[in-house]
Amino acid sequence: FLVSKGNHRHFMEKEIHEQPEVISHTLANYLDFAKGTVRTDATPLDFSKVDRIAASACGTAFYAGLIGKYWFERIARLPVDIDVASEFRYREMPLSKDSLALFVSQSGETADTLASLRYCKQQGLKIGTIVNVRESTMARESNTVFPTLAGPEVGVASTKAFTCQLAVLASLAVAAAKMRGTIDEQEERQLVRELSEIPRYANHALRLEEQMETISRDLSQVKHVLYLGRGTSYPLALEGALKLKEISYIHAEGYAAGELKHGPIALIDESMPVIVIAPYDHWFEKTVSNMQEVAARGGKIILITDEKGAAASTLNTMHTIVLPDMPEIIAPIIYALPIQMLAYHTAVFMGTDVDQPRNLAKSVTVE
Ligand code: AGP
Repeated sequence: FLVSKGNHRHFMEKEIHEQPEVISHTLANYLDFAKGTVRTDATPLDFSKVDRIAASACGTAFYAGLIGKYWFERIARLPVDIDVASEFRYREMPLSKDSLALFVSQSGETADTLASLRYCKQQGLKIGTIVNVRESTMARESNTVFPTLAGPEVGVASTKAFTCQLAVLASLAVAAAKMRGTIDEQEERQLVRELSEIPRYANHALRLEEQMETISRDLSQVKHVLYLGRGTSYPLALEGALKLKEISYIHAEGYAAGELKHGPIALIDESMPVIVIAPYDHWFEKTVSNMQEVAARGGKIILITDEKGAAASTLNTMHTIVLPDMPEIIAPIIYALPIQMLAYHTAVFMGTDVDQPRNLAKSVTVE
């Protein structure tokens, strides 16, 4: 198909920069900004009749689902079981008929996710799929399609599809909360207002690009990188590590910050940067104490935080990336952008084939 890079060096760069616009389109499909409510017509599924969500996906789409789990459980008090589709499809998990089977996929063709979808269908479950390609097999085989309006994503490394998946998941969590009576009208209006701010904050994050490029020059010199985060920043740590390894070929690992002392702390030395994703949220103090453990062992910290977080942290960091303070629900979407830019510019410094990294396919249609 004919999609052009425009003035950008790579599709990935173009797709990173499209995010404010495509997220805004996606949100408008689920939220009525004028009324400050979720659009119930876009959510033709009664979440008050759902007792659990059984979710699965692969790669970046799986990490989006993992962030969604935090939202559904906290805001809508709806438990979510989530697994990578390659495990889910064979694990013979006991599924209740009142569970919603939820799948997340950019392409709608990923073999393991599709097999999991068919498995759940056979078990008689309702199937909902968050998908970017409207004509895909998964879209056709689902009872309810929740589209992401990201437009065609060409770069093998998923960027705009990921943040649009998050925008849909956050909107659905608010819709589910409304239907289940766990938020009142005022809280609904407040959450919708907060979500409507994503494009503005995303634009702000994109303005940090020069700083990301400078930091990436340092990253392109190292062999290993560790990403840490708590709460919704934990799946982002996993996503940051995946993004870096797939396009720059630098070994990277993502960990829940609280897991540090259960093993990975042994790796810390002056040669391994530790990227800490820590907005000033209710996990912040805990993450700071993990950073102290890293600093005490000579680890070099790259902190991604906000103004309040930067003011509250007294640690010596190698770099601190400061985003504006923002509502907690939108932070994972906005913090994804510096993470993508770091991976992108590091790969550019390494001279790899950014849009078409070795050994990878855009859509994995074989098991
Ligand atoms: C992400 O950057 C990847 N290239 C990969 O993990 C991808 O997200 C995964 O293969 C799932 O693809 P899908 O969203 O098309 O199902």
